[in-house]
Amino acid sequence: MTDTPVDPTSTAAWARLTALAADFTPDLRRWFDEDPDRVSRLSFGAGELHVDLSKALLDDEVLAALLTLADEVGVVGRRDAMLAGEHINVTEDRAVLHTALRLPADAALEVDGQDVVGDVHEVLGRVYEFADQVRSGAWTGVTGERIRTVVNIGIGGSDLGPVMAYEALAAYRQDGLECRFISNIDPTDAATTLAGLDPATTLFIVASKTFGTLETLTNARLCRAWLLEGLGSSDATEAVAKHFVAVSTALDKVADFGIDPANAFGFWDWVGGRYSVDSAIGTALVVAIGPERFAELLEGFHTMDEHFRTTEPARNVPLLMGLLNVWYTNFLGAESHAVLPYAQLLHRFPAYLQQLTMESNGKGVRWDGSPVTTETGEIYWGEPGTNGQHAFYQLIHQGTRLIPADFIAFAEPSYPLVDTHDGQSQDVHELFLANFLAQTAALAFGKTADEVRAEGTAEAVVPARVFTGNRPTTSIIAPRLTPAVLGQLVALYEHLTFTQGVVWGIDSFDQWGVELGKQLAQQVGPAISGDAEALAGQDASTQALIAYYREHRTR
Ligand code: F6P
Repeated sequence: MTDTPVDPTSTAAWARLTALAADFTPDLRRWFDEDPDRVSRLSFGAGELHVDLSKALLDDEVLAALLTLADEVGVVGRRDAMLAGEHINVTEDRAVLHTALRLPADAALEVDGQDVVGDVHEVLGRVYEFADQVRSGAWTGVTGERIRTVVNIGIGGSDLGPVMAYEALAAYRQDGLECRFISNIDPTDAATTLAGLDPATTLFIVASKTFGTLETLTNARLCRAWLLEGLGSSDATEAVAKHFVAVSTALDKVADFGIDPANAFGFWDWVGGRYSVDSAIGTALVVAIGPERFAELLEGFHTMDEHFRTTEPARNVPLLMGLLNVWYTNFLGAESHAVLPYAQLLHRFPAYLQQLTMESNGKGVRWDGSPVTTETGEIYWGEPGTNGQHAFYQLIHQGTRLIPADFIAFAEPSYPLVDTHDGQSQDVHELFLANFLAQTAALAFGKTADEVRAEGTAEAVVPARVFTGNRPTTSIIAPRLTPAVLGQLVALYEHLTFTQGVVWGIDSFDQWGVELGKQLAQQVGPAISGDAEALAGQDASTQALIAYYREHRTR
């Protein structure tokens, strides 16, 4: 699908939004006072998620113009092209079908002559069977002992999704079975992750879409050496067969590594790494939470896919949130976007979203190769509340930058605890939620100088204690952090990222920007190790840094 993207800045809606932005004086206090229906008009349901956009910097005129923009750039058409398996990943000439990973078994989708749904469920079935064997103890290591620890070796999308979901769904894990994750090529990662493990009860999953990633293959070799040394096994083939499985689209390379193809789970080039947690890349997670729960996660994804596919634009939550981000980024000058989960178990969710959003939309050219015509790709960041409150919220409340923030919370805690002291009982989750609500209210409505004075504050200190308000937030709340809700949440962000990419005319599914550094690392490697010719080919700064390293190393 190589059609020319519509230049968003050439549309009538863009001109309208530019004009609206020029006179835009958001006043959430007044908007709330004058419009008793604002909250109900701007609150939406998507699956089990309740999404409140009322504290966004949004009025009816802006919303209408954003929806017109979506129409003028053809978001719906491109969405349908993606879902149908057209090659919308233009620079790699690939379909983009992560949504097919969560289609029910009785759905039908044939793409490029492939029975996509049949293939997806065939692999899922094998992953489920493997996970059941590990969970039940039927799968044993080479000494006959059951597996106690599963170590996932992968990086980027082959790590962040499984880690994020493993942490998020901690309440659903099987006792006595732990997962650990090695991603970084810093040898510290492998060393500290393996520390204390018993090779006889450890199983490795080498997760790599390409099976060519330096970090993953290096770590896999380190783990294989650790295993063989620890087992003292003379039969490496048997030990690897019992302690290594792989997940990849490159099954030939898996075999070259020495992993039995019978222990490999495939997926397809139409699944991007950052969109792959719901493929076999999630095998560690399936082992941890079990096939039934993983199936619920997939159902959650599918629920949001269906919402995105079938809901009219004016009520389509991922589409609305993507458009809102365009408004903030391109018209109000926001450069970053905070994600603040009021759920400790989502502590890796912002890191996961960094890859999803920034690897997808951090692009300077459009899908036809022409330069983008607007800013693209916000910087995503965040930490769970309330930790962030005591660290960086100061800047969000009173700094000079506009930082739209998504607050995510759950009605039910994953671990309910009550704090009893001085004869009083306090549901700690309610205390937690009070913070979520207080922060979004403070950001929206602020505190005026008169309100500060009324508290008896000395005049000289009044300005420092004023909160301007009108700092935009989106509140996302769901009944509980279940597998299904997690799936809905991830798919929500996938589709809002897609929406923004279409508006900007970019291919959100390639990642050429990570390649140059990889190539250079191959060239610099010999220079660090002492190859004079390779060293001479480096720039002066790199040469000086290598000289420093060689002077200070003690090995
Ligand atoms: O270098 C970036 C990247 O290609 C990501 O897109 C991907 O998730 C990660 O590396 C890992 O790749 P692989 O799964 O092929 O090892």
